[in-house]
Amino acid sequence: MNIILLGPPGAGKGTQAARLQAQRGMIQLSTGDMLREARASGSPIGDKVKAIMDAGELVSDEIVTALIGERLDSAQAKGAIFDGYPRTQAQAEALDLLLSERGRKLDYVIELVVDEDALVDRITGRFSCAKCGTGYHDRFKPTKVAGVCDVCGSTEFVRRPDDNEQTVRRRMAEYRAKTAPILPYYESRGLVRRVDGMESVDEVAAQIDAVLDDTE
Ligand code: AP5
Repeated sequence: MNIILLGPPGAGKGTQAARLQAQRGMIQLSTGDMLREARASGSPIGDKVKAIMDAGELVSDEIVTALIGERLDSAQAKGAIFDGYPRTQAQAEALDLLLSERGRKLDYVIELVVDEDALVDRITGRFSCAKCGTGYHDRFKPTKVAGVCDVCGSTEFVRRPDDNEQTVRRRMAEYRAKTAPILPYYESRGLVRRVDGMESVDEVAAQIDAVLDDTE
C-alpha cells in the first residue's frame, strides 16, 4: 500500500508516518528529513537548499523528486508513506510517473485537517533528541525527566532553524498557495480521505488506521 499524508506544517504528518512505519513496516519517505540530511552532510544539494528551507519556501521540484526517486525502491515490500511530498502539482504528476514506472499505484491521500493558528504552537514547541532523533514538545510531549531523552538518555536536544513563528507562517502560506491546490487532482480519482488532525495523536492514529484497514 502506498499513501500520501497531506497537511500544513505541524499537522502531524511526521508523527503519524513514524508510527505507521513502526507498526506496519511501511517506509516513511520524508523529503523534509532527506533535505535536512543533505544539509547536515554538507553535500552540494544541502548547501543549495539551506537558504530556501530557512526562509520557509519550497525547494525545486527537480531536487525533491530526485530524492524520492532514489529512495522509492527501498519501500517496495510493505509500501511507502509519502510525508511532505508531493507539495506541488508538478510533484504530484512526477510521483504518478515514478510509481507507474515501477508498476505501483497510490492507494490513499490522507488529508490531516487542522486549525493553522493552533499549529504555530505545536511547531514552535517542538524539539528532538540530538542523538537518537526522538521527537518531543515543550507542552504536549515533554521528556519524562526534564532535560533527559526518554529513549537514549542523552541530554542534548535540537530545534529546527525553520521552527520560528515568522518562518512557520511563511511555510503555511506556501502550503495554501502551492500544496492545498493539488487536492482536487486526487479527489477526482476518489483517493482522498480526511481525518481530524486536531484530535490527540492516538485518536488521529485510530482514524488513519480505520482508513487503511477500510473499516471507516
Ligand atoms: P518538512 O520537514 O516536510 O516540514 P513541514 O511540512 O513544514 O512539516 P513539519 O515537519 O513541520 O510538520 P509535520 O506535519 O510533520 O508535524 P509533526 O508530526 O512534526 O519540510 C521542511 C522544509 O523542507 C519545507 O519548508 C521546504 O523548504 C522543504 N521541503 C520539504 N519537502 C519539500 C517538497 N516536497 N518540495 C519542496 N520543498 C520541500 O508534528 C509537529 C509537532 O506537533 C510535534 O511536536 C508533535 O509531537 C506534535 N503533534 C503531532 N500531532 C499532534 C496531535 N495530534 N496533537 C498534539 N500535538 C501533536
